[in-house]
Amino acid sequence: MTAPAAGGRRPDHRPPDHGRTDHRRTENRGPDPRIRSSEQKKRPAPATGRATGAGGRVVGTIPESLPGPVSAATLAAGSRTVLDQGAILARIKSLPPAPIVLTRVLSIMDDATAGVRELVSAIELDPGVTATVLKTCNSPVYGGTRQLASLDEAAHRVGMRTIIQIVMMREAQSILEGEQSGYGFAAGDLWKHSMTVALAARLLAQRVGFANVSGLFTGGLLHDMGKLVLDVHLKTSYQEVRDRVDDGSTFQEAEREVFGVEHAEIGARIAEHWAFPPSLVEMIRWHHQPDGSSDHLDACCLVHLADALAHWLGVGLGRPGLAVRFESSSVRRFGLGPEDLDRILIELVEKTQQTEQSLAA
Ligand SMILES: [Fe+2]
Ligand SMILES: [Fe+2]
Repeated sequence: MTAPAAGGRRPDHRPPDHGRTDHRRTENRGPDPRIRSSEQKKRPAPATGRATGAGGRVVGTIPESLPGPVSAATLAAGSRTVLDQGAILARIKSLPPAPIVLTRVLSIMDDATAGVRELVSAIELDPGVTATVLKTCNSPVYGGTRQLASLDEAAHRVGMRTIIQIVMMREAQSILEGEQSGYGFAAGDLWKHSMTVALAARLLAQRVGFANVSGLFTGGLLHDMGKLVLDVHLKTSYQEVRDRVDDGSTFQEAEREVFGVEHAEIGARIAEHWAFPPSLVEMIRWHHQPDGSSDHLDACCLVHLADALAHWLGVGLGRPGLAVRFESSSVRRFGLGPEDLDRILIELVEKTQQTEQSLAA
């Protein structure tokens, strides 16, 4: 590994080059995470048990395991776990609609006939988004010598794809920038992680020739948004999750074991509630288990790999630390070697710094 990490730190671990690899670290295990293959023995977690809630009250039965995202029936039944899953589902359904500009730009991304006129019409609905686009396009990162005064000019200077990605970043930041203390994220941590994953996804898309770059970028931005909902439950049940991780589970497995549902599934439910395109729903749902995707396998593998790159840079780890499993089948699928990943990591550090500068300008 040769790439310097964001913020001048060096990554302290390198991507896997073969086999299925576990990167696990809990917050007190120090900066040198162990890399273990899944074939290595893991201490068995208790098969089932009674979960204890606040005040020592027994509140439910922890399921032995869930093979993947829980079904709607399970979510609706709401009796298997410490969480009232029906309440989670109801909470998702009661969320306010997605920002209007976000949904309109997503529609434009899905419409091959849409052009600059449609994009400008969608953005100018919101003066705040318009101002962000102009400010960002006028930053030194985009290199213009003349100040842009209109969205049309901006679109012609930097192109539709860049405008779309600026809008998506602005909208995602408004959703993700708060503190999620259950996950150990200070304000801005989840946003920075998400931005890094989006930038990594874009670099990967360019490297492997994936066509829908902006769709993948958006998947990277929003892949962890389910953490916004699960965070409140982690605040009260973190120790139970931590115990599972100490027993050998990944953080996502521990979420499923303790809550009956993990943040990826919750994020996908939010995306469905907001009527996001199916490809985006799948990228969010399967970002930890890309092989689960049937219709958008390439996109899910690339977001999974982009998430791994952000973890390898140490961006936005929070309490899950490196108790995350990455599937190196995603690397093999695109024929990427360790040198490719090193090069992408170096570029990712550069792009992250540039993007932060353009957003701060
Ligand atoms: Fe995640
Ligand atoms: Fe992530």
